Amino acid sequence: MADRRPIGVFDSGVGGLTVARALIDLLPDERVVYFGDTARFPYGTKRLDEVRGYVDELVAWMIGADVKLIVAACNSATAAAVEPDDGVRPTAPVPVVGVIRPAVATAARATRNGRVGVIGTAATIRSRSYEHAFDVLASDVELFAQACPALVSYVEDGRTTDPEVVTQVRSDLAPLIDAHVDTMILGCTHYPLLTGVLSYVLGPDVLLISSAEETARRVVSRLLDDDLLSDHRAAAHRFVASGDPDEFRRLAMRFLGPRLAAVDVEQPWRELASS
Ligand code: DGL
Repeated sequence: MADRRPIGVFDSGVGGLTVARALIDLLPDERVVYFGDTARFPYGTKRLDEVRGYVDELVAWMIGADVKLIVAACNSATAAAVEPDDGVRPTAPVPVVGVIRPAVATAARATRNGRVGVIGTAATIRSRSYEHAFDVLASDVELFAQACPALVSYVEDGRTTDPEVVTQVRSDLAPLIDAHVDTMILGCTHYPLLTGVLSYVLGPDVLLISSAEETARRVVSRLLDDDLLSDHRAAAHRFVASGDPDEFRRLAMRFLGPRLAAVDVEQPWRELASS
């Protein structure tokens, strides 16, 4: 039987919309309830135990919203609470999917030389959750982790290609280039928007793995396996922020993708025929 309850997606702010966008692309019949904790943004600079407390509160909120599955669409939150290196996970009556393991599983299969890089916030890298996930899923892979704390604010400011960003990315990635990684996990919700510059700096031989896309695929498998798919048509999503809703809306366009405002109709072949 179809399960029409929504999928809950939460993040520290708007970044998790990259995950929501990937989910909506793959699951057009599913409703998404998105919670952006913008009042307490960012998580990536905070202590892990503090973020763990936030995650417990947001999971409880999601259960109150009657979701059928929760996606922790934030690497820092996943690292602190959903897939931490001590393995203690939040208790919830529905599945809770994090963004780390789906990307790690794909990177482990993709690497040709066994050297994988991961970039993320300070909290994510400090947590060593990626190291833990590789230990469990692919212990033969050598992981090189690098915190890139400056990149989140560039993306929020809409700066994803200018020369200062290229310089910052070059300096952040230098240790990973020196380590000859051939696969790179984008371990932060904001980094998919920097894919252009990241590939430019790393070159075509380094494969980029987006945790957003890998997580969306994991959610599809989970819904199929657990018989949780919906049969909604034209699903309506709900977006909730703990901070300023106008600021959320402004930034959300960038992360969720622009929507069509109007469509013009032109038939150039008619003009050509009449001239
Ligand atoms: N959403 C966070 C992450 O993926 C990035 C922004 C923040 O620091 O809260 O780690």
